[in-house]
Amino acid sequence: MSEFNPATNEWYHPSKEITRGARVKDYEKLYAEADADIEAYWAKQAKSLDWFKPWKQVLDRSNAPFYKWFVGGKINIAYNALDRHIKTWRKNKVALIWEGEPGDKVVLSYWRLWKEVNKFANVLKGMGVKKGDRVTVYMGRVPELIITMLAIAKIGAIHSVVYGGFSEQALADRIEDAQSRVLVTCDGAWLRGSIVKLKDVVDEAVRRAPIVETVIVVKRTAHDVRMEQGRDYWYHDLMALPIASPTCESEVMDAEDPLFILYTSGTTGKPKGILHTHGGYAVYTSTTLANVFDIKDDDRYWCAADPGWITGHSYIVYAPLILGATSVIYEGAPNHPYPDRWWRIIEDYGVTILYTAPTAIRGLMRFGDMWPSRRDLSSLRLLGSVGEPINPEAWRWYHRVIGKENCPIMDTWWQTETGGFMISPVPSVSLKPGSATRPLPGIKIDIVDEHGESVPPGHDGVLVIQQPWPGMLRTIYGDPERFKKQYWSAFEKQGWYLTGDTARRDEDGYVWIIGRNDDVIKVSGYRLGTAEVESGLVSHPSVAESAVIGIPDEVKGNIIYAYCILKAGIQKSDELKEALKDHIRHEIGPIAVPAKIDFVDVLPKTRSGKIMRRVLRARAQGLPEGDTSTLEE
Ligand code: WTA
Repeated sequence: MSEFNPATNEWYHPSKEITRGARVKDYEKLYAEADADIEAYWAKQAKSLDWFKPWKQVLDRSNAPFYKWFVGGKINIAYNALDRHIKTWRKNKVALIWEGEPGDKVVLSYWRLWKEVNKFANVLKGMGVKKGDRVTVYMGRVPELIITMLAIAKIGAIHSVVYGGFSEQALADRIEDAQSRVLVTCDGAWLRGSIVKLKDVVDEAVRRAPIVETVIVVKRTAHDVRMEQGRDYWYHDLMALPIASPTCESEVMDAEDPLFILYTSGTTGKPKGILHTHGGYAVYTSTTLANVFDIKDDDRYWCAADPGWITGHSYIVYAPLILGATSVIYEGAPNHPYPDRWWRIIEDYGVTILYTAPTAIRGLMRFGDMWPSRRDLSSLRLLGSVGEPINPEAWRWYHRVIGKENCPIMDTWWQTETGGFMISPVPSVSLKPGSATRPLPGIKIDIVDEHGESVPPGHDGVLVIQQPWPGMLRTIYGDPERFKKQYWSAFEKQGWYLTGDTARRDEDGYVWIIGRNDDVIKVSGYRLGTAEVESGLVSHPSVAESAVIGIPDEVKGNIIYAYCILKAGIQKSDELKEALKDHIRHEIGPIAVPAKIDFVDVLPKTRSGKIMRRVLRARAQGLPEGDTSTLEE
């Protein structure tokens, strides 16, 4: 990727048509209103949801940083996503339009989705799943994944969705951490015309994490899989049983009851289980989606992320359904069978809003303008970007070739931990390519030095969030100490949340995200920890020690570079490099496979034994190594 080159004076103003129709017409005014009284602001937003019982207190700060939102309120997010629409004209509105990679299609109305969710909720209850139980979900991008998540939420259980691109050990670790007795999966998933054998991965993961007693398998690819008697059940068999009744009451949940755990990478090898709740998360995701993507009843909204990551949880599953939107979902690869697959989907379904990641835009841009130009993309109204900074070149291409210069780009900055968008334009705001613009109403941020002093415009600093928001993570599952230390200890006195990102503000107050300042690497927008990949490498019998860094890449944003010290007597060879890549593919998943592995005899370390990644990064890119005075002899 090109160097950080902010286009600080390049403005794009939204058309009058866009501004006139926008939900937020005057950003400054709404920001000021929210800022004057955040509790009143969030209470107002919360009123657009259906509560079983109203809250007594909007925000409880008494045990900070363990903030509580909508204290005393009773709600269920699945009820808000489905049941409440069934009572209105929306019951026959299309909720999901799903297209499989091989070309098969499924269209589900709110009514039909509601029925399917009810049925599966009853199946889960029948299998002994109760309120508060954790259910691990490891599936491809199929409608049953969404049905499963909503069914779990409906009965008050907690879902832990593990992205289908993870493999055996990563899945086993997450099952173990969440202590899930029930797992829902697919036999396989389609990707670029071949089958990813999910059930095989599950069999091995469950062997390593034997707490799982029940595995429910959705038949998708229909290849031969082993079904273990008494443990494995076909989804369609269970859904045909009398227990799968089509009515199911939503469990009455406390606003602060957990909804899901989603594991994400941090600075240690052990993934963190980010915990979100029914109440605040529902309010936050639906408000931000309404403000930023301006969802209208006739929109065809397409978030091209995977439901297995936070973008999918918040902005494929929960927020669009809460708002009663029609979503498009596509199972497979953007360039299968041809590089116009996405553009054809936009044309076929009249997609009005496309939300994706810079890496996908750069990947599709490489195939040239011919592919999108042959398709009718005139239905598009708004575009979105998420996951990493979007470089101005990609922004301009997206704006010109895909949006035909008519569609503002919502560059949304946020994190698994934040639950929803934090820094993002709304459609009426003027844009600069590569900047996520300014914080959304109700969100207060700053860019500071290590003492917490604001840095002047044009200078880099750490991005902090200065007051709580309803979509914030509540804890790291099972590890409240780590939650406090990781996010709240750096600016404990001020009570600020540390994002882990470096950023800069320009003269106009626009925010430019530069990237992570911890040991997290963004590869194709996916978040990976160096420590995870390192422990994956040293779990191979030939590797004594390893250090992993991310280096910039034209398409993927970053790629993984690994340095390994081999155990005594092990021969360096290209075959071993391939074997190590294969090992990572199996243990963690294809997304974590290093693009390059180097065998070295020593690693640059400080005298206290910390690996100097900065030196490794410079070496990998052939740049000067800088100050190495702290380097060990
Ligand atoms: C990065 C993804 C620049 C950032 C929703 C953040 C971004 C991390 C943007 C969180 C953006 C996300 N511009 N950087 N618009 N969006 N990031 O948890 O480094 O997978 O800290 O959540 O992605 O990644 P996560």
